[in-house]
Amino acid sequence: MRLEGISAAVTGGASGLGLATARELVAAGATVTIIDLPTSKGAEVAEELGDAARFAAADITDVDQFAAALDTADEAGPLRAVVHCAGRGARIRVVEKDGEPGALEPFEDVIQLNLIGSYNALRLGAARMAKHDTVDDERGAIVMTASVAAFEGQIGQIAYTASKAGIVGMTLCAARDLASKAIRVNTIAPGIMDTPLLGLLREDVRKALEDSVPNPKRLGDPAEFGALARHLIENRYLNGETVRLDGAIRMAPADGAPLRRPGAGHHPPTRLVGGAPHAVPPWEPGAPERLSRRRCRRR
Ligand SMILES: NC(=O)c1ccc[n+]([C@@H]2O[C@H](COP(=O)([O-])OP(=O)(O)OC[C@H]3O[C@@H](n4cnc5c(N)ncnc54)[C@H](O)[C@@H]3O)[C@@H](O)[C@H]2O)c1
Repeated sequence: MRLEGISAAVTGGASGLGLATARELVAAGATVTIIDLPTSKGAEVAEELGDAARFAAADITDVDQFAAALDTADEAGPLRAVVHCAGRGARIRVVEKDGEPGALEPFEDVIQLNLIGSYNALRLGAARMAKHDTVDDERGAIVMTASVAAFEGQIGQIAYTASKAGIVGMTLCAARDLASKAIRVNTIAPGIMDTPLLGLLREDVRKALEDSVPNPKRLGDPAEFGALARHLIENRYLNGETVRLDGAIRMAPADGAPLRRPGAGHHPPTRLVGGAPHAVPPWEPGAPERLSRRRCRRR
C-alpha cells in the first residue's frame, strides 16, 4: 500500500507511539486523522503536523464516537490505513496481597479499551475500507498494538496481558476474515518504549530498564514504532503477523522480591527480579510514580 495521497487514521495519535506514527505517515505523504480523547493534545499535535493532519476527538470505547471519527478520516480521502495505538494498563492481581479477589471493574475497563477497542478498530475501519476500489490489488491495511506482555505477562498484569494476548490472537483471524476484502492486518508487540511517561523516571531506574534490554541496550524509540507501522502498511506481503519490537527483551515474572545486584550494597539502584528491573510496566499510568514511591520507602 503506497502511503502517498491516502487517508490514514491513528488512534491514540496525540501521544507516544501513536504520535510518532502520525508523524511518520504524514512524512510519507498520507493525510492523517488523529483520533484521541477530547482532553488529549490532539488538536495541538495536528496543528503542529500541518495541513496533512487533522484531529477527530473521540473516546474509542464509545462506538458512535469512534465510528464518527473514522468517518472524518474517510472524508479526508478513501480510508486505507488504520494504526490503532490507544490503550492502557491496570494493576490487578488474581488474588491481591490482602487475600481479596482481584477487582473485576478495572479488568473489564482494560478489556473494553484494549481488546474490544481493537475489535472496533478492525470492524469499523475495515468496513469503511471495503467500500473503496482496490489500488494495486488491495484496499487497505490495519496495524494493531499489543505488547510483549501478551507473551510474558508479569505479576499484576492479568488484565493488560489478557487484552494484549487477545489482540495477538485476533491478528491472523482478522487477516483471514478480511482477505476476501483485500485488507491486511498486522500487530506490533512493543517492549519498553521511550514514551513521555518514561521521561518521569529517575535516571537510575531508567538506566536499570535500559540494562534489561539485550541489544541495543536502550529503550525503544517511538520513531522505531512509527517506522515499523509504516512498513507493515507498505509491505504488500506482510499479513496476519505479530512483530515484537523489543531489542530481544524477555520480561521476568517480577514477583516483587527485592534481589540485590552483586556489589550493589544495601540500597540497590532499583528493585531487581531475576536480573531484570522490577517491571512495573512503565507504560501503565502512574507506574513511574509507584517505582519512585517504593524507592523512597526503602530509604
Ligand atoms: N510505551 C510502551 O513502552 C508500550 C509498550 C508496549 C505496549 N504499548 C502499547 O502502545 C500503545 C500506546 O502506548 P503509549 O506508550 O504511546 O501511550 P500514551 O499514553 O503515550 O498514548 C496513548 C494515547 O491513547 C489515548 N487514549 C487512551 N484512552 C483512549 C480512549 N478511550 N479513546 C481514545 N484515545 C485514548 C491517550 O489519550 C493517549 O494519547 C498502548 O496500547 C500501550 O499498551 C506501549
